[in-house]
Amino acid sequence: MSQDSRFIVLTGVSRGLGRALLEELIERGHVVAGCARSAERIRELSERYHPNHPLDTVDVANFADVESWAERIIAERGAPDLLINNAAIINRNNPLWEVPVDEFSDLMDVNIKGMFHVTRAFLPSMITAGQGIVVNLSSGWGRSTSADVAPYCATKWAVEGMTQSLAHELPSGMAAIPLNPGIIDTEMLRSCFGDGANCYPGPESWANKAADCVLSLSSRDNGRPLTV
Ligand SMILES: NC(=O)c1ccc[n+]([C@@H]2O[C@H](COP(=O)([O-])OP(=O)(O)OC[C@H]3O[C@@H](n4cnc5c(N)ncnc54)[C@H](OP(=O)(O)O)[C@@H]3O)[C@@H](O)[C@H]2O)c1
Repeated sequence: MSQDSRFIVLTGVSRGLGRALLEELIERGHVVAGCARSAERIRELSERYHPNHPLDTVDVANFADVESWAERIIAERGAPDLLINNAAIINRNNPLWEVPVDEFSDLMDVNIKGMFHVTRAFLPSMITAGQGIVVNLSSGWGRSTSADVAPYCATKWAVEGMTQSLAHELPSGMAAIPLNPGIIDTEMLRSCFGDGANCYPGPESWANKAADCVLSLSSRDNGRPLTV
């Protein structure tokens, strides 16, 4: 392993941007601990990457599960150098007054509370280590708005606010950064754009640029809203 190899925790690795970034970071020689809910996809990835890269079935909305995952990962590998909160869901396109109550609640649980849970579980070890970068996946819809995705917009504006507040709190030498990935053809994009998602690049070409971006971040970027 090269001296520049970093230990990275990444949520939402089963498909889309998280999966492509997992593969790109591993390809570049970094060690990645990842999670998602889909047991089948995690099993497939584990067959490829175990034991060097621990991949686990964890629902970020469940703090008890996140906490025991983090305790085990930190005990085995130490504090992460880079914590990337990528896992998220989007509401089915609907005007706000037609969004099912449970669906709205799920978005808050995963996109906001899930990000908090993972940060709550891993960040103290990074602070003790005196270094580390937290990257929270935001969205164009964390800085602008559109019809039919109000719950999702609400969560991504929350991500921007939570991350920039956290940036004020971190000790010097660390950073928290809200990162808009751009527009990429994934299952999430297909949910809101339908076939229009075809016009956008796929996750694999995105992952190359995204890896350059996240690996170049430093404490100088603390609190800066960035875009891949
Ligand atoms: N694609 C875009 O154009 C775009 C634009 C702006 C922002 N983003 C942001 O980029 C990130 C990735 O989006 P994507 O397009 O790759 O979405 P995606 O294709 O739907 O993938 C989402 C990933 O998150 C995981 N996930 C969802 N809920 C989870 C939970 N409760 N616990 C653990 N993992 C969970 C999913 O796995 P499981 O279902 O197996 O749990 C999946 O691996 C998100 O934060 C999204 O908001 C994407």
